[in-house]
Amino acid sequence: MPLEPRPLHPHVGIEIPGFVLGAEHSDAERAELRALWLEHGLVLIHDPEVTPESQIAFSREFGELEAHPLGGTVRSREHEELLVLDNRDETQAYVSYYDGRPLAGRLFWHSDLIYTGAPNQGAVLRAVEIPEEDGLTGFVDQARAYDLLPEATKQRIKGLEVVYRWDVDMSRNRYVDRAGYEPGPKAPKKASDMNFPDFPDCAYPIVLVHPESGREILNISPMFLHHVVGLPDDESDALLRELVEHVTQPEIAYYHRWKPDDVILWDNWRMMHSATGTAPGVKRIIHRTTILGGAKLGRIV
Ligand code: SIN
Repeated sequence: MPLEPRPLHPHVGIEIPGFVLGAEHSDAERAELRALWLEHGLVLIHDPEVTPESQIAFSREFGELEAHPLGGTVRSREHEELLVLDNRDETQAYVSYYDGRPLAGRLFWHSDLIYTGAPNQGAVLRAVEIPEEDGLTGFVDQARAYDLLPEATKQRIKGLEVVYRWDVDMSRNRYVDRAGYEPGPKAPKKASDMNFPDFPDCAYPIVLVHPESGREILNISPMFLHHVVGLPDDESDALLRELVEHVTQPEIAYYHRWKPDDVILWDNWRMMHSATGTAPGVKRIIHRTTILGGAKLGRIV
């Protein structure tokens, strides 16, 4: 059956109506799906027949799966490749306060594992149980963000490198939007609070060339963003603030309001994501698989 993709949002992704993850797919269909993933960065599918097994098999079509370092507390007992994200679990969905309102599982804009130098190529989220309110996931296409930059800015950032610094204490992170933010009592202060190792600083080209699609990507994702290599502090800070404002402009972000059995596949080398969170104690279950990819995009500094 031919795939019939249609645009999802003016700046982000596509959806493919009628796609069933566990159905037999011809080699041509599989190749087309990979090409669509690379061309658009994000693919939304709604599959009422989805199961953990079909999610895992579908994800494997795009590469080897890896256990995220955070896996210890959230890995499914039956399937080690599957993470079970549950907003009621305060050891994975930290409660923080935004203008005095407590929210569990809220995440600032980020690209997964950017602080390691070898981020995963992609990931798949499947909505299992979804509350009526909140719990949205945001996506920004940083290839699109690059295309939308003024030509003078493209010239200015050409050849520059940006450093990401692993720090779980968000009150030290200068480039996340912390307006009205207060960490909750259990918010981690150091990596070991969340069973994470420490990572050295890591530098990337600000204009990253996607190893598979060749697309130029504005590699600015606010969480863990630290400084521009070789620029005085004030210049580095001014440039990063300008680029963060560009990449987080609401017009280019897509926020997905989940329905059960929605599945989103995205390209983590090209997209950043965020989560709006829910009131604490609200049930929101998402199954996640992580596609390794294996390219080394950053260098340890
Ligand atoms: C994730 O970052 O993998 C989870 C996003 C979400 O919970 O919406």
